[in-house]
Amino acid sequence: MDTRVAIIGSGPSGLMLGQLLHRAGVEAVVIDNKSPEYILGRIRAGVLETVTVDLLDEAGVGDRLHAQGLVHKGINVAFGGTRHRIDFEGLTGRHVVVYGQTEVTRDLMEARIACGAASVYEVQDVRIEGCETERPLVRYRKGGSEHELRCEFVAGCDGFHGVCRQSLPAQAYRTYERVYPFGWIGLLSDTAPVSDELIYANHERGFALCSMRSPSRSRYYLQCTLAERVEEWPDERFWAELKLRLDPEVAERLVIGPSIEKSIAPLRSFVVEPMRFGRLFLAGDAAHIVPPTGAKGLNLAASDIRYLSRALIRFYRSGDNDELEQYSDRCLRRVWLAERFSWWMTSILHRFPDAGEFGARIQRAELEYLVRSRAAATALAESYVGLPIED
Ligand code: FAD
Ligand code: PHB
Repeated sequence: MDTRVAIIGSGPSGLMLGQLLHRAGVEAVVIDNKSPEYILGRIRAGVLETVTVDLLDEAGVGDRLHAQGLVHKGINVAFGGTRHRIDFEGLTGRHVVVYGQTEVTRDLMEARIACGAASVYEVQDVRIEGCETERPLVRYRKGGSEHELRCEFVAGCDGFHGVCRQSLPAQAYRTYERVYPFGWIGLLSDTAPVSDELIYANHERGFALCSMRSPSRSRYYLQCTLAERVEEWPDERFWAELKLRLDPEVAERLVIGPSIEKSIAPLRSFVVEPMRFGRLFLAGDAAHIVPPTGAKGLNLAASDIRYLSRALIRFYRSGDNDELEQYSDRCLRRVWLAERFSWWMTSILHRFPDAGEFGARIQRAELEYLVRSRAAATALAESYVGLPIED
């Protein structure tokens, strides 16, 4: 097969890039080592910045998002038995939209099928060659036979465990990483959310988050240890622990019900620099990971794709590769701001086993300052709703 852009990975990054290129008349093929059903079964992010919403509109997949997405004009931060609202709209004039990553992916997959663009699922043993030449080659196996995808660019949208970053020569990049000493266990259930807006709770038993996917579907998370397994968290234990970490008024009105999904994710900060090697461009989780506390993972993926799609479209329209040259630097400026914010949100909200008494008091002071100072609350709000994009 021949194409212009080989997109490795059919998550939100790869699918968004595929749609934006398709609408600009640039041909691309998407390959993924999983099936569409498997990809749609992964429950991940839920909060979209307006920059991401605008990009999905540009990709032509905004209709369901606008009809069903929930506009959230603030969040609640809970500690010491009290909840405090951070008023995004009052502080920044902006908001976020709650709409699940699963739905974003479904909308993009349907649009890709509707426009007849090529996707190949359940491929194995993907190998990338010749990124330093003008004709990179992607090899893979499917159904027992060997396939070749000849292309002009490779978009590495294959997530943190993907093959693209691992294909780079060791001397071509540098990584920066922090692994946190805890994870999150998430539970999805068809119950009414406990609150109209998200609640981020700092509690001595550990962090808790009350989120949602719709007015009848809730998503809750609890900080857990890295040693714990999902089987050790039957629904009853999860609900009981969540109640303990919420203030009595919220705990009282919590509606419980059977889980429809439960999973544990470790928390990590990670960046690779640069995000480009020859004609291979990394985007989304393939290039950076943030802990989910700031709800930035999916939004950062969207901002990478905004830069990458514009750069590729410009190249194919005018032969100008300036934006391709600037891609990595532009992305990384935004990536590090989101890394800082996600690390900071994680640090103020979780219980750190080794922080000691001093660390616990400083954390409490951070939270007090956040809810007493308009400047501090504005700083949180402007990063949460999404920093403006630099063009
Ligand atoms: P992915 O969604 O990871 O997509 C990568 C795609 O590449 C996948 O479909 C995969 O099957 C495919 N792939 C992988 N390896 C190969 C290969 N060798 N060959 C071909 N294809 C391959 N963010 C939040 O904001 N809030 C959250 O609550 C949250 N929870 C998360 C929970 C988990 C367990 C994880 C892993 C991430 C979570 N995130 C969350 C982050 C957010 O979901 C990601 O930032 C987002 O999925 C990034 O999209 P992506 O397309 O770059 O990568
Ligand atoms: C979610 O709804 O999955 C979610 C929301 C906010 C976060 C993380 C996850 O910060």
